[in-house]
Amino acid sequence: MRLLLLIPVLFLAACQADSPLRTDSFDPEIEALLASMTLEEKIGQMTQLNITTLVQDSILEDYGNVSHYVLDTSKLEQLLEAFHIGSFLNGRAVSPENWVYVTETIQSINQKFSDIPIIYGIDHVHGASYLKNGTIFPHNINIGCSFDTSLAFQAARTTAYETADLGHNWLFGPVLGLGKAKSWGRYYETYSEDPLVVSRMGVAAIRGIQDSTATSPYKTAACAKHYLGYSDPKSGWDRSPAEIPDQALREFFLPPFKAAIEAGVLTMMINSGEINGIPVHASYDLLTKMLREELGFEGFIVTDWLDIIALDEMHGVAENEKEATYQAIQAGIDMSMVPVTTNFCVYLKELVEEGRISESRIDESVRRILWVKKQIGLFEQVMPRKDRLDRINSPENIKLASQAAEESMVLIRNENQLLPLSGQRILLGGSTHDSKVSLCGGWTYRFAADGDHWFPEKMLTIRDAFEAVFTDPTSGESQVSILNENHLESQAAQADVIVIATGEDHAYAETQGTIDDLALDPAQTQLIQRCLATGKPVVLILTEGRPRLIPEVEQEVDAILFAGLPGVYGAEAIADIVSGKVNPSGKMAFSYPKRSGHIIAYNHKKAEYSSIRPVSEALQRYAIAPFGYGLSYSVFEYSDLKMDTLIREAGEKLEISVVVTNVSDRPGKEAVLWFVSDLVGSITRPVKELVHFEKQEIQAGASRTFRFELDPKRDLSFPDKDGKQLLEAGRFRLEVGNLHREFILEKSVGGQ
Ligand code: BGC
Repeated sequence: MRLLLLIPVLFLAACQADSPLRTDSFDPEIEALLASMTLEEKIGQMTQLNITTLVQDSILEDYGNVSHYVLDTSKLEQLLEAFHIGSFLNGRAVSPENWVYVTETIQSINQKFSDIPIIYGIDHVHGASYLKNGTIFPHNINIGCSFDTSLAFQAARTTAYETADLGHNWLFGPVLGLGKAKSWGRYYETYSEDPLVVSRMGVAAIRGIQDSTATSPYKTAACAKHYLGYSDPKSGWDRSPAEIPDQALREFFLPPFKAAIEAGVLTMMINSGEINGIPVHASYDLLTKMLREELGFEGFIVTDWLDIIALDEMHGVAENEKEATYQAIQAGIDMSMVPVTTNFCVYLKELVEEGRISESRIDESVRRILWVKKQIGLFEQVMPRKDRLDRINSPENIKLASQAAEESMVLIRNENQLLPLSGQRILLGGSTHDSKVSLCGGWTYRFAADGDHWFPEKMLTIRDAFEAVFTDPTSGESQVSILNENHLESQAAQADVIVIATGEDHAYAETQGTIDDLALDPAQTQLIQRCLATGKPVVLILTEGRPRLIPEVEQEVDAILFAGLPGVYGAEAIADIVSGKVNPSGKMAFSYPKRSGHIIAYNHKKAEYSSIRPVSEALQRYAIAPFGYGLSYSVFEYSDLKMDTLIREAGEKLEISVVVTNVSDRPGKEAVLWFVSDLVGSITRPVKELVHFEKQEIQAGASRTFRFELDPKRDLSFPDKDGKQLLEAGRFRLEVGNLHREFILEKSVGGQ
């Protein structure tokens, strides 16, 4: 009876919503299913276990080297029969056929006990990384620097397309954390230090994953992670505490998650850490009040790995695992990535039976989980298929991954136009010049690959790519010699230029990426200094997942290419940029710090550089390449900035245009970045903020007009600590390229 009375209200709410997600709306099929389920079955839907709980013991014994899964079907039967597990996760890069066997076995055994299919989640975060020969794209740190959202979309869409047939119906991405703490071991998983870049790239990735045109008849769910504030641990170490004021949380960290919800993201994973003393997994304020009630998220929330247990064992806010379970569920968790025991099922059942958690609270979560399963068509398309495996790593997909690599590298220094190189004799060395793993980083074929043997044989290192690009095809003569540190000086005498590829020479993920010094390996700095001492020009190629500091050599070397983690096709892209076949077009999506003592983002507050207490000019240069900086082999000139300088009221939009001319003789792509500065604000304002970006190709000698419609409500407002959006009248400054203009907003909202 109660349910019937609710129907009209909820139905109305569903019709009025902008969001495609309405899990609170009445779905007779889901309600009927829910009504037929036992408590144990419901709790099973809320439980996610790792694939290691299903494999044969012989595989577990040497799990680090697993390359083929064999399931222990009796373990599987037992878990499904006794605990009705609703989700499994993860794996390693095994063959597509092996994946089909795994997911088909899981689904068919599940069918013996349940009508509700399993949702299988996997960390395919930069391509199908847990798939042998899956196409590997650059990591997000690079995609952000491309300033091209279509690359984020295509990379995500291709990943879903390569993997949906294999029964991977849930991808654990995109990462929507802001790239704040530079030494954090997950820095490379973030798109940018700027909320707009993260929001736009993240939304593009969500659309790519959830776009079913390529995966049909399957659909894949995306998972926005890790809500909220994970990327700014105070000490820089993974999962260590963050202290983020409410106002900053709302202004900088929240917008990407808000945008993800508006784009219809189906699931959300939670930050393992704590913010301001409260672990996010136990925060009713963040999970229920903010995420559900304020932002209206209606998909389901999954914990991160071990994170209910962590409330007891890592954070110490719960007495034991049962109390931790109570806290997390009451805070708003829907599914627990347990991931290797069934304790969650036992404790949650006890909590309901003891009357501490109501069954209607359980129903809320299960309703959401079933709703997501229904949204991705899981009830109709349960089994994987292997008749389209040739879609994996197709030439078309490789082309996309190569393009993403090319467009995501940033040329941050090029003295005297040293690059591109043409006929010069090249001496090539450095810690990453002959390494595959250092081009791909963590989450590639393994959690963190311990060597190049996990990578495709055909994959090139920088050395291979240089030897291919800089060898005369007719004479077979190579311009490249490989540096031997014992003979550096004599080798340099025979060379015209020295190229050092360095940065980070191994893969790391999560805690394994923990460091206590952001400086480049001192041995590599010394190597660069020895190269400089030879008097030959030096080119530095940085392959790294976070900006390793190079203050000793930054001003001395002649060229620097930030290559980041460009993926499996990264070496060709580097060689093509160095040889000039490809014109670099990336711009920094984060500020590359100069020194360790003052690491700030481009959108810092005014008081970092107070005019009444000035610091020296040298100290003012906080970055070797600030956000938005990047060179091209073309030269672009900005002119004709057209805009009104008065906005009478908040509802009025400002049409702005600028002309960009390619005054060089080679075509190139230019990312045009529009910034606004709010010159006076009741809460201190960033010195500038990105409000729009667009990247376009401009032919040699040609001009292009870039347009932007400034919407005061969207582009000039900011939240207070309670989330009230303020739009204050006053002076603003618009900046694009080297042009800028002041303008005025006459009336604030409310008309003062
Ligand atoms: C990571 C997540 C990941 C999950 C599943 C966790 O440790 O923080 O990003 O999706 O593991 O592998």
